[in-house]
This record gives sequence, C-alpha cells and structure tokens, in this order.
Amino acid sequence: MATTITRLLHHLALLLLVVQFADAVFVPKTKNYAVLKPQSWGTTYIVHANFLAKPPHFGSLKEWYRSMVTTHASSTRAASSSSILYTYDTVMHGFAVQLTGDEARLMSSAPGVIGVYEDRVLYPQTTRSPGFMGLEPGNGAWKQTDFGDGVIIGFIDGGIWPESASFNDSGLGPVRSGWRGKCVDAHGFDANLCNNKLVGAKAFSAAADAVAGRKSRGVPSPRDKDGHGTHVASTAAGAEVRNASLYAFSQGTARGMAPKARIAMYKACSENGCMHADIVAAVDAAVKDGVDIISISLGRSFPIAFHDDVLAVALFGAERKGVFVVVAGGNAGPQAARVVNSAPWMTTVGAATVDRLFPAHLTLGNGVVLAGQSLYTMHAKGTPMIPLVSTDGINSWTPDTVMGKIVVCMFGASDADGILLQNAGGAGIVDVDSYEWSRDGSALYSFTLPGLTLSYTAGEKLRAYMVSVPYPVASLSFGCETVISRKNRAPVVAGFSSRGPNPAAPELLKPDVVAPGVNILAAWSGDAPLAGVFVPDGRRANYNIISGTSMACPHVAGIAALIKKKHPSWTPAMVRSALMTTAGTVDNRGGHILDNGHTDTLGRTDNVRVATPLVAGAGHVHPDLALDPGLVYDAGERDYVDFLCALNYTAEQMRRFVPDFVKCTGTLAGGPAGLNYPSFVVAFDSRTDVVRTLTRTVTKVSEEAEVYTATVVAPEHVKVTVTPTTLEFKEHMETRSYSVEFRNEAGWHREAGWDFGQIIWANGKHKVRSPVAFQWKN
Ligand SMILES: *[C@@H]1O[C@H](CO)[C@@H](O)[C@H](O)[C@H]1NC(C)=O
Ligand SMILES: *[C@@H]1O[C@H](CO)[C@@H](O)[C@H](O)[C@H]1NC(C)=O
Ligand SMILES: *[C@@H]1O[C@H](CO)[C@@H](O)[C@H](O)[C@H]1NC(C)=O
Repeated sequence: MATTITRLLHHLALLLLVVQFADAVFVPKTKNYAVLKPQSWGTTYIVHANFLAKPPHFGSLKEWYRSMVTTHASSTRAASSSSILYTYDTVMHGFAVQLTGDEARLMSSAPGVIGVYEDRVLYPQTTRSPGFMGLEPGNGAWKQTDFGDGVIIGFIDGGIWPESASFNDSGLGPVRSGWRGKCVDAHGFDANLCNNKLVGAKAFSAAADAVAGRKSRGVPSPRDKDGHGTHVASTAAGAEVRNASLYAFSQGTARGMAPKARIAMYKACSENGCMHADIVAAVDAAVKDGVDIISISLGRSFPIAFHDDVLAVALFGAERKGVFVVVAGGNAGPQAARVVNSAPWMTTVGAATVDRLFPAHLTLGNGVVLAGQSLYTMHAKGTPMIPLVSTDGINSWTPDTVMGKIVVCMFGASDADGILLQNAGGAGIVDVDSYEWSRDGSALYSFTLPGLTLSYTAGEKLRAYMVSVPYPVASLSFGCETVISRKNRAPVVAGFSSRGPNPAAPELLKPDVVAPGVNILAAWSGDAPLAGVFVPDGRRANYNIISGTSMACPHVAGIAALIKKKHPSWTPAMVRSALMTTAGTVDNRGGHILDNGHTDTLGRTDNVRVATPLVAGAGHVHPDLALDPGLVYDAGERDYVDFLCALNYTAEQMRRFVPDFVKCTGTLAGGPAGLNYPSFVVAFDSRTDVVRTLTRTVTKVSEEAEVYTATVVAPEHVKVTVTPTTLEFKEHMETRSYSVEFRNEAGWHREAGWDFGQIIWANGKHKVRSPVAFQWKN
C-alpha cells in the first residue's frame, strides 16, 4: 500500500496523471500535501456573476462584488479582510473569495449570481516525435507554415524555466504588435529573461496561497519548480536544440512541433497542485493578452456536467473570443468513460506511443530472459546474478530485507521509490506494471539504481519463477541506448490514456484525437529533480523523458499553431475539424492502430485489439494533411448553445455560458448528436428506435472547385444512407449540407455494446474522414 501511495504520488507530481484531488482514490499522506486540507474557516469559491444584472447604483462590477461579499459573508474572514482573491472579466464575470459553506449557499441565491463553484485542486496530467509525425525541416508542414512563426500559444501550467536552450529566440523577429502579454518581474524571475520566443510569463497563486493560509509576498514568480510547464511548452513550441538528451537516451535534435511559435506561460500550479480559482484567472489573462491558442495539460479525475465545471465554463468564454483550446483527456484509462475536458469547444487529446524503445533485460536464474525497458541513467553496467525478493512495499525496505538484492515491486515502482530503496541498500529494482491504468509497461522511469519496467505479462512470468524455486536470482542488463525502428509498432494508444464514452455528453465522441504522449523528451526545469519534488533526488538535467496525456496535448497545440499560421482566419472548430478528419488510423506497419490498454477477463494486457474511436477518437494527428483538409465542419457559439439545450440544461445553467440567455430556440435535429461535429455517435435506445437521422454541414476550404463522393463503412445490421452521395463545390468557403440515415436492422436481439464505422467524403486529392460510434443500449 505504501508503495502504491508513493507511486500514485509520483504519478500525480511527475507522470502528470490528471487527477482532481478530492476525487483521488488514495489519500496521499506526505507533508507536502498537508496544506491542501482547507482550513476550517473557509474554502475558496468562485462566484459567477451575470454582469448584465449589475444594479445601476454600483459604479463598477468590482464595487458590486464587494457589496455582495459584505452582504452575504459578513461573519467571515472574507468580509473582514475584504479578501476578493481575483475578479474575472474576460472569459467570464465574477470573483474568487473565501467563504464558509453556509455563506456560499447564501451567495448562490444572491441576485445576479449564476453560479458558485467550490474551488478544487487539479493536477497536471522531443527529439523523436517531430520526425515520427512526418515533420522534417525543408518540406511539408514546416516549410508551408514557416515553422508556425509568430503564432502565440498560452500554456496554463506550472511555470517555465526561461534559461532553457529550447526558449532561445535566435532568428526570431519581434512578437506581433497588438500583443498585450508581458513577462512579470518577480522574485527569482527577471522580466528581461523573456525574449522573442518567451513573450509572456505571469503567475497566479492567490487561491493556492489562501488555502495554504499564507500570504504571497510581492509578485508571484512564473518560474517552474517541477519541470512540467517547461516540458509542455518546449514540446509545443521549443526552438531547435542540437544534441539534446536525457543522459544517453533519445539523443538528437530536440524541437517543438511549431519551432517558431511564441510561448506565453500562465503559471497556475505549484507543488500543491493547481486551484481552479488560479486557473480561471490564468485563462482570463491569456485571452485578454491575445493568445491564439491555449494549451491545458490539467484536469479532474472524474468527469462532471459542463455547467458545474468552472474550467469548461471559462474555456467556453475563450472559444467565444476565437481562441483554440486544446486539453489533455486524462490518464485514467483503460477503464471506460473516464475522459475529462470533454466539451465540444475543447479539442481533447489522448496519448499514444512513438517508435522508440529503451531496452533492458532481466535474466532469471533458470535462463529465461524477460524483456523490459528502462531509463536507468547512471551507467551502462548491469548487475551479476543476485537474489530476487518481492516485498510488500517501502515499509518493509530495511537493510535486512533488501540489502544487496533486486527488489520486485509487483504493484509498480517509480524512480522516486528507487531512490528510497537505494537508501535502504537495495541493489536493483523491478517495476511490474500491474495497474489498470498502465499495464503495458510502456511509461518508464529514470532509476538511480539498476532497474527496469516490465509489462504485466512479463511480470506474471517473473512471479511464476519466483514461487518455483526456494532462492530466486536474476541479473539486470541494459542496452543503454534508444532503439528507433519500424519494427517498434507505433503508434499504440497508451493504457493510461482516458477513454470514452463521454460521461458529460455520451452523444459527443471524445477524445478527439491521439498524439505522442509516452516517454517524451523535452526541456526541464533546472530547479526540478528528475524523480519529482517529493524525494531527495540530487539529479538535475536540461531535458527529461516523461509520459502522460499532458505530453500529448502540447503536440496538438503546436500543430494547431502551424494550421493557424497557414489559415489565420479559421475558427477553433475549423482547426479541430482539420486535425480530426485527416487523423490516421493506420500504424507504421500498415495495420490498424492498436490499443495497449485493453485488458482481457483475466486482467492481462492484450494489445491485439484495435484502438476504437472511443479510445483514439478520429485517430493519430497528421500535421501535413491537417494543413489541407479539403472540407471542414465548422461550429460556433450558436451551435454549442443548441447542443447544451439538447442536453436539457436549464435556462439558469445556460446563463453560465451565455449571460443573456433567455430560452432554447433552435432545436438540434437528432439531439446532442446533431451538433455539426466531425465525428458521430449514434445511440439506438430500444427495439422501437430503428432510424436515426443526423445532418452535417461542410465548408470547402480548398481553393479549387471540387466534387466529393461519400463512402460509408458500417457494422453488420446497420444500413447507412448518405444523401446526397456527391457534393459539388465551386467557391472557396462554400457550404453544403448532407444527411445520414442510420437504420437499425438488428432489432432488439443485438446485445448492449458498441460498434464502429466511418463516413468518408473523398476525391483524388482530399479524404475527409469521420468516425462513427454506434451504441446499442437495449
Ligand atoms: C541561442 O542560439 C544561438 C544560435 O545557436 C547561440 O549563438 C546563442 O548562444 C544562444 N543563446 C543562448 C542564450 O543560449
Ligand atoms: C552530445 O552530448 C553528449 C552528452 O551530453 C556529449 O557527451 C557529446 O559530446 C555531445 N556531442 C556533440 C556532438 O556535441
Ligand atoms: C431531453 O428531454 C427530452 C424531453 O423530455 C427527452 O426526450 C430527451 O431524451 C432528453 N435528452 C437528454 C440528452 O437527456
């Protein structure tokens, strides 16, 4: 159990597991997290106000907010110190303040208040990846877009390490005029560290400080203390850096997906996690400053309805201002229905592998060699044959039990555990991937002592050997190299990547796409130990290799920057459509992309199963094709309002998105599934529900006149009819609508479950593919 907690902590802090603290299954017990417990006198609440309802006698919104606090929170510290932590005025209107539960209830019925959200903690969830994605200097997407030059990506994350070579601005012109962002001067962060690459850096910590019961002194610093923010920013938009590596691993030229895009960091996380009130302030500032794209590798662990999710509400405001929003879908796979950040105004990203292995071997006393992987960094030497021991966890790691032995952790172990084991005298560590969320053994650690990671299946062989002999022994050996090869089947969707169906709106397919998110090399903070901030790890490095949907998200942010550069006038929905309809479902061996998270009834990983659209969305992003999608499915505020109306949100709930909302007018034909989205979900509810008809509108974005013909791939017992079957376009930006009739011919004999198909509009030049997921409810 203790190991479990350590491992979980490690994933929270470093592997960027996307977890909302209040929902976490385990309660971490380290003192680092003690500050998270709200003080008894109050919790932070975000009070969402309808600015249209401000009584005229208040001169300003702030004056009105202050009066609300005095009226409804008179007994508290909130009133006495008049401590409004933030006011929000761009993506939504309102303020953050500390209240008691009773005061919060009172506040929620105050005139003009449309929502009161209790503040929550969210946790954060490449040399090779650009090449793997088909991005090469001198041709294709990079050439067509000048490496995304000038597009500004805002990151809501844990800060930045401005000294990193990945943020060198050599060769970049000044940031565009009209940019309102800047770098703050703070303790430990000199505004002069910013340049034409890092064009903004601000920090938001009022809510975190309030919960911790501390007062922030001076301007909060955007400096990155744990590495995550630096890693994601350089993944999306890092400059070219030759000979980057983590020790000897993944050596090569590191650069982001859009090497000339500009970075603005909005720090909203600290070692204690990221508070909603700080995150919303960061989003508000990013949109006000004028970013083109927002990248958020943070999320809850359990999905909730959009109107109760203040991040979804704030990001709706960002989308209304034309900002493309890309988010991590979460690391709660492979269980179904755990995808988060799943609103239609966000582009939701899952994680997949790249074609790179870090081989290491465990040779058992009986001669059997188990293949694993490792980022063991110290030296290439392995171990001789020494005793193997399986322990209950770190509590039993005393010199008596582990001295000179290889310790097998059947329930997983991180590099942070490795440091503790090494301190107890252990000679080696074997991390057996045995959690549902990562059975595939693909997410690796940079152990400080000889150690490797085995898949669940290899772990079973090890377990069988250990019970078969009285004194099990083994040796560890390391390739200490990186193997890039077409033989390494990739991409494969990671076991931890969160999957659909989408609990917040089952008739909207999520995630949208997958991108590289396993063992990604990117820049690191000079202040951050490699194994995380919770263990005594003296190692520092300029680059680090980590995994998570946190890493997949900025890959898509960078590709979106390339698209924005080529098509500055496209709406966020058009950019997402381009990413989705050109995404691939075929891997580097020509087979269907597989799912590493599928577990059979015995709980064993079986990566023979293909990644369905519930796992991979439309597929793996393809930057070259996304620049020229042919047709796009556009949508905007009006469409999202109709979508939320189709989810039967009340007028009160709707006003959280649109303050002047009166009532639902347009009805979305086909319910929420009728949103003009590049994917389809078709739910057959009962034997009487035999026909579902959905319509879509496509916009031609290619210059030349074109004719498209529909092709359908449908499962057995579903007849799909597209009308019309050809679409002719002449003008640029011309739109055409089509309808699709899905006829259930299976009747009620069909078992409950899912089937999949696709609808493709194509001609010789373009292929516009939409996945279709069929749900049989019966
Ligand atoms: C930035 O890169 C240029 C060109 O490679 C190099 O000359 C310069 O020293 C770098 N600057 C910093 C601060 O590392
Ligand atoms: C690349 O980096 C490695 C490790 O940091 C170093 O040993 C090597 O000399 C470097 N190679 C070049 C060409 O700079
Ligand atoms: C919304 O309400 C209508 C009418 O009661 C119902 O038919 C429909 O199934 C509901 N939709 C959702 C998504 O709950």
